[in-house]
Amino acid sequence: MPAEVPQQNGHAAVDVRRALKDGIARLRDGHISAFTLTAEVLLMHATGRDRAWLFAHPDEILDAEVAQKYFAAIERRVAGEPTQYITGRQEFWGLEFEVAPPVLIPRPETEHVMEAVLARLGERGLKIDMKTGAPRETMYVADVGTGSGCLAVALAYELPHAKVYATDISAPALEIAKRNAERNGVADRVTFIEGDLLKPFLAAGSTLPREFDVIVSNPPYIGRDEELTLEREVRDHEPHSALFAGATGLELYGPLVEQAGVLLKDRGILALELGHDSDDYVRDLFDKQSGWTNVAVTIDLAGIPRVLAAQRSR
Ligand SMILES: C[S@@+](CC[C@H](N)C(=O)[O-])C[C@H]1O[C@@H](n2cnc3c(N)ncnc32)[C@H](O)[C@@H]1O
Repeated sequence: MPAEVPQQNGHAAVDVRRALKDGIARLRDGHISAFTLTAEVLLMHATGRDRAWLFAHPDEILDAEVAQKYFAAIERRVAGEPTQYITGRQEFWGLEFEVAPPVLIPRPETEHVMEAVLARLGERGLKIDMKTGAPRETMYVADVGTGSGCLAVALAYELPHAKVYATDISAPALEIAKRNAERNGVADRVTFIEGDLLKPFLAAGSTLPREFDVIVSNPPYIGRDEELTLEREVRDHEPHSALFAGATGLELYGPLVEQAGVLLKDRGILALELGHDSDDYVRDLFDKQSGWTNVAVTIDLAGIPRVLAAQRSR
């Protein structure tokens, strides 16, 4: 006697095992890298379950709606959409962030900006005064080009005595960043400002702070000349205002260093994420402008110069 095939709305019902198997095959045929992991992540998203549940329930029949959501997600990924825009989530610095097409998907290498800042702050970055146990005197932090808000939110999270000011030229990105500050419980200490680089703080009559302890930025740093070398996931789906700085990709570093030089306090720290092959150019900017010390570059896990940090001395 043939085995009975479970039916759902007149179609063969799909169990967890089958969904994973078919999803993996479709992603592999669509030349999607990490196809097994991607199928698992999309099935976790569609079912609202974690990986342990999926593997403990291989025979569980998926609701028709869930199966439809999952296979639609697989097709979106095959068409090139990044997994994070499909699930709407990305982790950064151990925190969860909402992501959507108006914001760049936070990258693991950007965590080196966090590390550079926290290492340099050292004792100044401690959450409480070791003698009194009281929160330390307010520290002022700026994040330029905040996108999802990942750096601003993670710095506010790590530095409970900090007030963080985050700028972006994209109003839709700032809406998402605000939600990420709320989601991570730091909205009361992060102010989001629509504006060009650090200009909102330098504008005549501005009531915003004019002196900062820390300024960070992961600016757009890809040259328009490099557009065709980008993966389609990036080129066709991530916001071009987050990717491209101009013809060469180096265009925003000069204004950033100059403006940060005006706004940083004595011993203030500037940390910039570096684009491909930009470390010599960016180092030169610090040599040309007086008053910078301790200029150093962090090399990332792929061996690429990734973050330049420097200290302001007045
Ligand atoms: C590379 S993304 C970085 C986003 C986020 N900080 C991160 O690390 O994932 C650069 C961000 O800078 C913003 N941006 C581009 N030009 C800008 C400018 N002139 N002033 C302020 N923000 C700008 C973009 O909208 C984008 O959100």
